[in-house]
Amino acid sequence: MQTKVYLTDEEMPRQWYNIAADLPSPLQPPLGPDGNPITPDMLAPVFPMNIIEQEVSTQRWIDIPEEVLAILSKWRPTPLHRAPALEKALGTPARIYYKNESVSPPGSHKPNTAVAQAWYNKQFGIKRITTETGAGQWGSALAFACSLLGLECKVFMVRISFDQKPFRKLMMQTWGATCVASPSTETQAGRQILAKHPNTPGSLGIAISEAIEAAVTDPTGATRYSLGSVLNHVLLHQTIIGLESKKQLEKLGEKKVDVVIGCAGGGSNFAGLAFPFVNDKIHGADIAVIPVEPTSCPTMTRGPFVYDHGDTAKMTPLLPMHSLGHDFIPPPIHAGGLRYHGMAPLVSQAIIEGLLTPRAIDQIECYEAAVLFARTEGIIPAPETSHAIAAAIQEAKKAREEGREKVILFGQSGHGLMDLSGYDNFFQGKLTNYPLPESEMGSAIRELNGLPKPKVVRSGKW
Ligand SMILES: Cc1ncc(COP(=O)(O)O)c(C=O)c1O
Repeated sequence: MQTKVYLTDEEMPRQWYNIAADLPSPLQPPLGPDGNPITPDMLAPVFPMNIIEQEVSTQRWIDIPEEVLAILSKWRPTPLHRAPALEKALGTPARIYYKNESVSPPGSHKPNTAVAQAWYNKQFGIKRITTETGAGQWGSALAFACSLLGLECKVFMVRISFDQKPFRKLMMQTWGATCVASPSTETQAGRQILAKHPNTPGSLGIAISEAIEAAVTDPTGATRYSLGSVLNHVLLHQTIIGLESKKQLEKLGEKKVDVVIGCAGGGSNFAGLAFPFVNDKIHGADIAVIPVEPTSCPTMTRGPFVYDHGDTAKMTPLLPMHSLGHDFIPPPIHAGGLRYHGMAPLVSQAIIEGLLTPRAIDQIECYEAAVLFARTEGIIPAPETSHAIAAAIQEAKKAREEGREKVILFGQSGHGLMDLSGYDNFFQGKLTNYPLPESEMGSAIRELNGLPKPKVVRSGKW
């Protein structure tokens, strides 16, 4: 049995896939504070114009610059594996495959966009990039990319992860970046939150506010901000994952995929793997496409589709997305990269269309899945990734009950070698599930009253 497929450097995709060209109903525009659509100029202090152009593009295929391909080829194409030992342990007739993004130097899918974003910034003459990080994977990825491209990098890391994962900070430092815990005293946004909540675990929403403030207040004008997920251009850069996977499944002789699964924090690794398959679904293929989130931060499964800010201090435009409210501070689960109040507008619109079937899973079930995966297939996954594994296991068990030979593909978005404190807590029985109580959902969502409402545009085909 062939259990893994590599592609040659020549077989690496040369273009990214932009689902905005194929979504049955177009994305609604981001809005400014006055409720009117924002113009590219309004984003110019935050992002370089070449990235803004990509953000609004509806061109289906976008060329990957040669220099970006050259850096990506340090670890890409990534392998696609079959998981026979996991299949055996589950007694399932399903064939389970996973795309292994954990082989990148920082350990996850995040450098796929970090390298591209750093390159576009450099082309535009930018010298320094600021960003936020949850689990530390994104901060490490941007530090890595900036180091290879000769840019300065400053990372605001969510306090709870900063404390849980000290080695991530050292990785960033090794790649030449500076990393501080967020909220910090370095920005007005951070100071205001600390004054109100001195012991806050922090959140991605707060760290984003700090990173944007640090970029736009640089008097030299040579700093821009970079976001590791959520935005259209970030999802675009990640589609190399799904495009490679399609070629690899073909090489294995798989004619049809039944289920595609990814964990979703802001939506980028899920979309990167799934969107090329969603394109097939739009054109008639019968595929279940499942983004997975924690029950403690149930953005897609319980959050309304609204216009909301991407950050806590309301510095970003209003985006049409599923959201739990920009003030929502998720419980301190170990999957730091899934602790985000919103979901990518492209993923949100695909949910509204009925193209995706989101699922929420409890923390303990995810750790059980992660440990089974580590003990069968050998890779210790990131806590974020464990959500995709848990859903793949649920689907494989379903296939066993139905007696069906399904093909299941999931995204192995990162390794968990820097996340072992979560495993320690799991083994010591210290972990709890935090399904979000209705009362807490209500209070965060109340912040959304008074904001404009997106139209719920649905073609009704799925
Ligand atoms: C390993 C890993 N997987 C998944 C995610 C979630 O992010 P996204 O939804 O953008 O893929 C993160 C975020 O930090 C991550 O580190």
